[in-house]
Amino acid sequence: MAIPERVFSGVQPTGNLHLGNYLGAIKRFAEMQADYDCIYCVVDLHAITVWQDPAELSHNTREVTAAYIAAGIDTTKHIVFNQSQVSGHAELAWIFNCVARMGWLNRMTQFKEKAGKHKENASVGLYTYPDLMAADILVYRGTHVPVGDDQKQHLELARDIAQKFNVDFAESATNAGHPDGFFPLPEPLITGPATRVMSLRDGARKMSKSDPSDLSRINMTDDADSIAKKVRKAKTDPDGLPSEPKGLEARPEAENLVGIYAALANETVEATLSQFGGAQFSDLKGALADIMVAKVGPVGDEMRRLMDDPGEIDRILSDGAERARVLADANMNVVKEIVGFIR
Ligand code: TRP
Repeated sequence: MAIPERVFSGVQPTGNLHLGNYLGAIKRFAEMQADYDCIYCVVDLHAITVWQDPAELSHNTREVTAAYIAAGIDTTKHIVFNQSQVSGHAELAWIFNCVARMGWLNRMTQFKEKAGKHKENASVGLYTYPDLMAADILVYRGTHVPVGDDQKQHLELARDIAQKFNVDFAESATNAGHPDGFFPLPEPLITGPATRVMSLRDGARKMSKSDPSDLSRINMTDDADSIAKKVRKAKTDPDGLPSEPKGLEARPEAENLVGIYAALANETVEATLSQFGGAQFSDLKGALADIMVAKVGPVGDEMRRLMDDPGEIDRILSDGAERARVLADANMNVVKEIVGFIR
């Protein structure tokens, strides 16, 4: 029997949500609701792979939840919860630690970037992070995963893990009624403009919460004045705007601003360039500031409103966790049977 389609994705509660998180992830999550059953997780277990202040972690968990809701995710039709409330994630991650190979994890570029020169001092959790991410998706037998471009390698690892589990346990899975393997091979959904939003000060670097310059990013809670100011100060190059996407090649700042505009306007880069081709950056920037204030401003306002009632956010998370647990527990029962654990 075919595995039903299901979307799963997650955002880390590590603070300072910005336009990159919104366009690369949260806005896309909201768009998938019409076509799929969706589970959107606030991945607090992933967050603690690097030190988090406990009070800030709870605050940031509520803030990501508020961003999901403010972006239009319907928490009654779909599932929104924080990862640590459903134990199946950590349980399946352990099994996956035993399925994934050291060689596979050694290839993960994000670990290399994050651990940097101090590899010996990185947490073990940071190293096995991709196994937990595979468990997040597969504990619900998720089939489609909207993510930013930087998570592509982790998704490929999740597919390798699902595949190896299916092969290693083929006979046992067949006996448990799953002759085609228990896990689907989840597919990344990385499409449209601005899948990777870059710094406004340096088109070669990703927009990041940890960039020392606040001018490099648009925070979801920035007010209209700071949004307009940051767009005005965004780095450009000396040429005008091209009328074809080819003209953006090797012009990372131009490509970034055009991509952001297209994503906010829900149009293609081609459509944006047919409007702005031949224009000056100042024209694009004026229009970009307007559309950003119009689209991001209300999301930030709604986030602030929701954050005024943390009890309500916690209630939504615990309700989502309860519904997620039903699905995860049922799947973990089958996984345990397949692996040979006595239940
Ligand atoms: N690693 C993802 C990120 O940093 C967050 C994440 C955790 C995730 N688990 C996931 C994304 C499962 C998609 C599916 O962006």
